[in-house]
Amino acid sequence: MSRSTEQPRWSNQIGFILATTGAAVGLGNIWKFAYMAGTHGGSAFVLIYLLCVLLVGIPLMMGEMTLGRLGRSDAITSLQRLAQTHHAHPAWRYLGWLGAITLLCVLSFYSVVAGWSLCYWLKAATNSFYHVSTSHIQTLWSNLLNDPVQLMTYHALFMLMTVGVVAQGIQKGLEKAARMLMPALFIILIGLVIYSLNTPGAAQGIDFLFHFNLSNITPTIAISALGHAFFTLAVGAGCILVYGAYLPDQAPIARTVLVITALDVLVAILSGLAIFPLVFTYHLSPASGPGLMFETLPIIFSQMAAGRWFGSLFFMLLLFAAWTSSISLLEPWVALLVERFNFRRKPACYLMGGIAWILGLVTVLSFNHWSNFKPLLNATLFDLITDTTTNLLLPLGGLGFAWFAGHYIPEDALKKALNFKHVLSFKFFQFNLKYTVPLGILVIVLEALIK
Ligand code: PHE
Repeated sequence: MSRSTEQPRWSNQIGFILATTGAAVGLGNIWKFAYMAGTHGGSAFVLIYLLCVLLVGIPLMMGEMTLGRLGRSDAITSLQRLAQTHHAHPAWRYLGWLGAITLLCVLSFYSVVAGWSLCYWLKAATNSFYHVSTSHIQTLWSNLLNDPVQLMTYHALFMLMTVGVVAQGIQKGLEKAARMLMPALFIILIGLVIYSLNTPGAAQGIDFLFHFNLSNITPTIAISALGHAFFTLAVGAGCILVYGAYLPDQAPIARTVLVITALDVLVAILSGLAIFPLVFTYHLSPASGPGLMFETLPIIFSQMAAGRWFGSLFFMLLLFAAWTSSISLLEPWVALLVERFNFRRKPACYLMGGIAWILGLVTVLSFNHWSNFKPLLNATLFDLITDTTTNLLLPLGGLGFAWFAGHYIPEDALKKALNFKHVLSFKFFQFNLKYTVPLGILVIVLEALIK
């Protein structure tokens, strides 16, 4: 028996926009965007990422959200219903399973990285970085990575924070968290940007992010930027589909998606503007990789006057962003267990939170006991999980959702759900959904597989 008669709804449009922006804005916008831009030539990466968001991310998010609004259930049931109504093969429901597995893998490593933010927020708030040497900060970081028990503990705490919110349900849990955390996130971020732009490295930081030079673009940068566009917009895995399923009937999807993507891009750019001016002011390298947030920035916090406050606010920002996203990674599984397997919400949350925590141990161990275990492509299990989910599974899922929405959902139904103001904008969207998105994804994924 399905519980779909109890299908929850967002309380209003603002609640939905905040929750979905919360799903989109996460570690991807701050931690990942900064280190990817840092290691992939700055502006070259930023330019391709913006293009991917515009041509691939936006139409895809609109398509995926529409599928949720029309299917009104978890991803698998929605696809099954829509496939039946619109005469598509029933196997389309496996696309929902692919998404669910992708989300679980993402949640498993996401929670470990978010645990680092929790740990560093506590360190910054207790003034652990104050006037300590660079080598001390590097030791703090390697000590954390080398200590599986500490990593597991922070990973567990963060998972409990996530489960705690999702267990409360859509309006009292997801929406309430987003209503508090998202405005706080914007205020902190803007404060940090104002501070950073008043340091001597401001011009160099801006130049690094925005001085576009086409000759710097390489296939590796293009695939990373595409993968990143999917990751940051949370598209391609059914998460947006499930959020769309809780939308009221009349909500105009096209406009809503434009607002959400604009906010998501804004947070990424603002994070870049908060981070890179400081990196240049203190003569550090922007290309230090995933440790940028945890190794490079604390060096800055240790030297600057208000380092304790700046540092705690920064890690609080990272933590809030991660929290609203991890909620969105767990919710689709909860919807799935409730809708298809007749679970109650709370046990579904505990079960999936527990499974994701156990899977996260693979990430935890990749940094210490298993750091030399590189089964494929000379990469650790952590690198393999993050790269496969971001650069392969999310784009492939995206290809599926775009194809299904573009080729099986009748034009009238799409038009009505999206509610475009102008016919031309609808045509542009439809063209991109049907052709640009699948082609763009195929070319880039094949390129990545061949290399
Ligand atoms: N968008 C989130 C971020 O940028 C991550 C995420 C990916 C969330 C996929 C949900 C689904 O951090």
